[in-house]
Amino acid sequence: MKKLFVKTYGCQMNAYDSARMADLLAPLGYGPSDTPDGADMVILNTCHIREKAAEKVYSEIGRLRTLKAQKAESGGQMLLAVAGCVAQAEGEEIVARAPAVDLVVGPQSYHRLPEMIARFARDGGHPLAADFPALEKFDALVETKETGISAFLTVQEGCDKFCTFCVVPYTRGPEHSRDPEAVLAEARHLVDLGARELVLLGQNVNAYDGGGWTLARLCEGLARIDGLERIRYTTSHPRDMSDDLIAAHRDNDKLMPYLHLPVQSGSDAVLEAMNRKHAADDYRRIIERLRAARPDMALTSDFIVGFPGESDADFEATMQLVRDVGFATAFSFKYSKRPGTPAAALRKQVAEDVKSARLEALQALLTRQQHEFDDSQIGRTLPVLFEKPGRDEGQLVGRTPYLQPVHVQMPAEMIGRIADIRIERRTANSLHGSPI
Ligand code: 5AD
Ligand code: SF4
Repeated sequence: MKKLFVKTYGCQMNAYDSARMADLLAPLGYGPSDTPDGADMVILNTCHIREKAAEKVYSEIGRLRTLKAQKAESGGQMLLAVAGCVAQAEGEEIVARAPAVDLVVGPQSYHRLPEMIARFARDGGHPLAADFPALEKFDALVETKETGISAFLTVQEGCDKFCTFCVVPYTRGPEHSRDPEAVLAEARHLVDLGARELVLLGQNVNAYDGGGWTLARLCEGLARIDGLERIRYTTSHPRDMSDDLIAAHRDNDKLMPYLHLPVQSGSDAVLEAMNRKHAADDYRRIIERLRAARPDMALTSDFIVGFPGESDADFEATMQLVRDVGFATAFSFKYSKRPGTPAAALRKQVAEDVKSARLEALQALLTRQQHEFDDSQIGRTLPVLFEKPGRDEGQLVGRTPYLQPVHVQMPAEMIGRIADIRIERRTANSLHGSPI
């Protein structure tokens, strides 16, 4: 068995892709390894959304070069591949700058990995696959052989929204939805393998359009699969939060009362400059409608502070939106320039110390809300889906409908099953409880 080490950066979409690449390479004799030491193949599945993404990849390649040389000395060969969004954005550049890299493969081209490896073995050189051949890759993917209790399932990729701060439309290409029948087939397969929860993935997952099938209809189809207990989806855009999807949160019992709905800012001026194409009040109204459909809906979001031109009043509008909505958790970032995006060229960049102060204030508020939300579950009894053993002896970790991790003393047979758990206390980032 040859050893394959995949290092995954960034989003859940990348985690899904990494697992698919491993599936794809299994028939070629590659089995997973949890270290790059002595590996026959290393794939860096990169992310371009954070700052200095490319630089981090180059320094990782530098470290791997040593292991590659060691492998060569012992008469072996370590193939080094760069995949993901940095590969897409910087393909040619990587080939030129990092001779240790053997293969560069963009997110839409993973299905070509086996062919690229074969070609590499034959002729060497630097095959580069980084185009956007629609969703052909999904047709070519091989069946996965194992799954966790909660499994990712990509249903949509790409983005046409062009928020002015974001690289995704350039690295992941235009919006594309997978065929609903293919999604349902993959879902059934995952459930047969033991998955009890599916997390539907897409850069704009709620924009899903499978030839007349909306995301709500897809979830309805999925809910009919016996053995599947829970359905989640991420990431959504406020503009695509359609009536039928909101209604599905009322009508579809398997759809969890949890939504990640990035708003980025609470200021209309900033939202406009970001090209988000909705106002802060539109977001408030969506939340009201969601809570009318499903009163216990837990909300999470992404925020950017210090977008070019953001004034104190703009930032205060973001704080106000957070106070108005009340989030279960949230991610917040300082704006940072992404080369080639429109916002990077804006003149009124916000000073670094101002960004830091705003981020600190926002995160303090969001952390307080997270603790309040977690504390509000104490004393309640919640259905918890158990996923894996916990750190302590005899303990399992599961999740509430609101995605909070819960640690409970439970027999291992409960993995993959749901039990009613009385929530007793909260530690820093998780809850503890006992069966009733
Ligand atoms: N600067 C800061 N944060 C960003 N994000 C995307 N691009 C940038 C950027 N240039 C954040 C957004 C998005 C999340 C995945 O990453 O909040 O929702
Ligand atoms: Fe990026 Fe905006 Fe598309 Fe989300 S909707 S991926 S933030 S461009």
